[in-house]
Amino acid sequence: MRLFVAINWGIETRERFIALREELRSHSQRGNFSLDENLHLTLVFLGECDTKQIAAAKAAMNAVRFEPFNAVIDRMGRFRRDGGDTWWAGLRGDKPLMILQQELSDRLREAGFKLENRKYSPHVTLGREVVTNYAIGKIEPFVETVTGFELMKSERIGGKLTYMAISEKR
Ligand code: 2AM
Repeated sequence: MRLFVAINWGIETRERFIALREELRSHSQRGNFSLDENLHLTLVFLGECDTKQIAAAKAAMNAVRFEPFNAVIDRMGRFRRDGGDTWWAGLRGDKPLMILQQELSDRLREAGFKLENRKYSPHVTLGREVVTNYAIGKIEPFVETVTGFELMKSERIGGKLTYMAISEKR
């Protein structure tokens, strides 16, 4: 199974992401837009894992020092891709978020997970393979106080990409 660690948003924040996604969708010729329930912030992607690794991931999550912090979403952007870009809402790289991501990565590496080395760019994917002339940039910032994060399982169920929380740290 495929695992990742993510922050899942409260209802009000999720509505803000949905509004951004709809704004983007209305200006797009085409795209594969994220489902409402899939609008999360990935902290660390673990990739393909077996059942034994779930316990190791949970232990690593529990070893992280965690204090609630404010996450600020302040822009939209894209990763350029052939065949259509990946569009996202971006988070400000404030210290509490970046430190949490770093500590979590350190604990997971110590637990034996091989993680990607690329620089963390905090974002919530709004759509993939998007073709649009929409102008990227600043948005009216919005904030959520993050009180925890979750270990997520990613599966295709009946052809539909489905994410499920299997453990949480508060
Ligand atoms: P993305 O939205 O930018 O694709 C589940 O796939 C989650 O893990 C998604 O939020 C995805 O980010 C993230 N992720 C990070 N690295 C990934 C990778 N190499 N392959 C698939 N998903 C990855």
